[in-house]
Amino acid sequence: MVVAVGADHAGVALKDALVVYLRARGVEVVDFGTHGPASVDYPDFAVQVARAVAGGRADSGLLVCGTGQGMAMAANKIAGVRAAVVAEPFSAAMTRAHNDANVLCIGARVVGGGVAEAILDAWLTTTFEGGRHARRVGGIVALDAARAGDAG
Ligand code: RB5
Repeated sequence: MVVAVGADHAGVALKDALVVYLRARGVEVVDFGTHGPASVDYPDFAVQVARAVAGGRADSGLLVCGTGQGMAMAANKIAGVRAAVVAEPFSAAMTRAHNDANVLCIGARVVGGGVAEAILDAWLTTTFEGGRHARRVGGIVALDAARAGDAG
């Protein structure tokens, strides 16, 4: 499994800790940064991770900022991405099982390291259930195709 990761300055410390955690579990990580505490803009990192996932170069994405919210808003602008903000393990599992989410967004100012690891565990071990959920996710996918027309 390949996971693309990214963070801004608010999320970099947690992101770096989660990269270590993922690699210890045998997960291949592609780290798009940021790599230090200097202030940066979260969309610049969200788009790199989102394009890696949408383009098939990563199986899923992990984005960390202060709240996870800005990262999700930016990542969801990329067609094919279903990014979800998650703050506890139950939602992490459900957004995989029912929504086939492919980018996990975590707020470093919302959850601590232990909860973030539990969220990742739930995320990595839960698979999409398909069935009736496939029809609903198909509805989301169809919105990507219609997106260009929305601008007009
Ligand atoms: C940075 O201060 C903060 O706005 C950012 O990390 C994130 O929380 C935005 O959604």
